[in-house]
Amino acid sequence: MYLKGRTALITGSAKRIGRGIALGLAKEGVNIVLHYNTSEESALRLKDEIEEIGVKCWLVKGELSKDYAKILDNAFKLTEGNLDFLINNASIFPASKVTMENLNSIVTVNSWVPLLLSLDFSRKLSKGKIVNILDSIISGYNFERYPYFLSKKLLEIITVSLALKLSPSFQVNGVAPGLILPPEGKDNSYLENLKSFVPMKRYGNVEEVVNAVIFLLKSDFITGQIIYVDGGEHLTPRVVL
Ligand SMILES: NC(=O)c1ccc[n+]([C@@H]2O[C@H](COP(=O)([O-])OP(=O)(O)OC[C@H]3O[C@@H](n4cnc5c(N)ncnc54)[C@H](OP(=O)(O)O)[C@@H]3O)[C@@H](O)[C@H]2O)c1
Repeated sequence: MYLKGRTALITGSAKRIGRGIALGLAKEGVNIVLHYNTSEESALRLKDEIEEIGVKCWLVKGELSKDYAKILDNAFKLTEGNLDFLINNASIFPASKVTMENLNSIVTVNSWVPLLLSLDFSRKLSKGKIVNILDSIISGYNFERYPYFLSKKLLEIITVSLALKLSPSFQVNGVAPGLILPPEGKDNSYLENLKSFVPMKRYGNVEEVVNAVIFLLKSDFITGQIIYVDGGEHLTPRVVL
């Protein structure tokens, strides 16, 4: 399936991996609804870059836990109902204690919002494709980032179960990146220190994640799959106590 002329809503896509997905899809001819929350300047700059590629780009701003329904409604209005793909990319990645507050805030943004956006998306359209961005952390156990780890495990279950529930009209898949970018504010020494855990002994790049997303969007027969883009890290699952 060619992607040219289709339209994708990508959450949290002003910067980093989301930005890469937006640019990668735009180069395939996909119109982009670029969602952002706080990164307005980056979003405006990226909009110009995407339009220079020759596709349409609309901006939708909002905090996902409060505004997820409005964000999808706005995306529908702006595109006159012509959405084809939903990429649930936005997430929060703190090393946090297991408290009710942390669990609620992280699981809300990383798991419940993608679930609710996917269900709303499927109610508004007759067919479409959803890609959830997971994390290869789900192959092991991580208590340092336990709320985040749990939120991505939950999103994995949501991905596979919605693939079944929304079939045959919607395909739902996941991409699970490994070591790709250091957390905001850290430099590449973060990745250098961890790459010995990766069977391929290197960290990945954003394009490698983007290629997996494009592959899944081009397929008309794959659903309920998780593609690990992690240099084989999921084969030697890490336990962080
Ligand atoms: N970085 C990696 O190496 C790596 C590894 C494994 C998995 N992943 C997964 O890949 C995806 C992208 O990773 P990333 O590192 O590029 O992500 P990121 O920079 O940590 O976050 C992406 C965007 O999410 C948005 N966001 C966060 N909380 C939000 C909220 N409450 N409401 C609205 N937007 C919110 C932010 O938008 P604004 O900036 O506009 O506020 C942010 O720019 C994530 O799902 C992550 O879990 C990344």
